[in-house]
Amino acid sequence: MEYLVGVPWLVSVALNVGRLTKRVSQPINDLRNRVLPHQLGFFLLDSKMLLKFFVMKEDVDIGKVVRQHLEMDEFFTGGFAIRGQQAMSTKPETEESSTHTAGELEKIADEIDRCRKCDLGSLRTNSVPGEGSPRARIMFVGEAPGADEDAQGRPFVGRAGQLLDKIIKACGLKRSDVWIGNILKCRPPENRDPRPEEVIGCLPYIQRQIELINPEIIVALGAHAARTLLNTNKAIGELRGQFLEYYAGIGRPPMKLIPTYHPAYLLRNYSQENRRLVWEDMKKVLAELGLPVPE
Ligand code: URA
Repeated sequence: MEYLVGVPWLVSVALNVGRLTKRVSQPINDLRNRVLPHQLGFFLLDSKMLLKFFVMKEDVDIGKVVRQHLEMDEFFTGGFAIRGQQAMSTKPETEESSTHTAGELEKIADEIDRCRKCDLGSLRTNSVPGEGSPRARIMFVGEAPGADEDAQGRPFVGRAGQLLDKIIKACGLKRSDVWIGNILKCRPPENRDPRPEEVIGCLPYIQRQIELINPEIIVALGAHAARTLLNTNKAIGELRGQFLEYYAGIGRPPMKLIPTYHPAYLLRNYSQENRRLVWEDMKKVLAELGLPVPE
């Protein structure tokens, strides 16, 4: 028989062997992320491929064998899996690496919760360290928590947050695909602007969070986030809509940062034009990441 159809158990055996074998766990995980939506195609393994699995010696790279098979499949069919690599909403990292990042982010969150570098630490109800995927390709960075965020300890959960959720959804993404946080981790009273000493005290937290998550694009929401991360005094109108460079530290390549209007500004100035500008900015982000750009 030239083709064996429907061998899901074989795939899961291969994936589990991959997980147990450190050497192959990364390609297997990459593949699982890329391939799962296309399992039907994956199950059409030809008999030679199957044979390869059974006669494989210990040092055979299972991930490589499967990848080659998929690339071959793509070559003949116009492709489904490998091209999808570009269109993933989160980075294809190993479980081990994202668990490590999540653990380090948790440590930063604990530090933030104990932080009393400025008065805001004793005025807040909850600190708001930020949340989202440790494998995020996009990090949204806002200014500071408001009343709703202070009450819940979560970023962007008030009205501005609901608008941000809509923007994320319109991009074809889920909130859990991205990471969302702020420059300040505690609410300034009456939502006043952050003071320089507060920004200086808090800045290392977002810098470390960016460094850990290492996103492909940072979206700076509003003037405060954009100016702080870019170390500039320029107006948001001048900065928005362009890919600029965020410097994560000496010896590290700059990261892409695009400023856009803050959702709270959009709510206050809910014009067709302002919405269009934010949408244009987000479409640039999607295009840059190779994600589908909605009309
Ligand atoms: N505005 C912000 O800048 N951050 C939040 O978390 C909420 C509103």
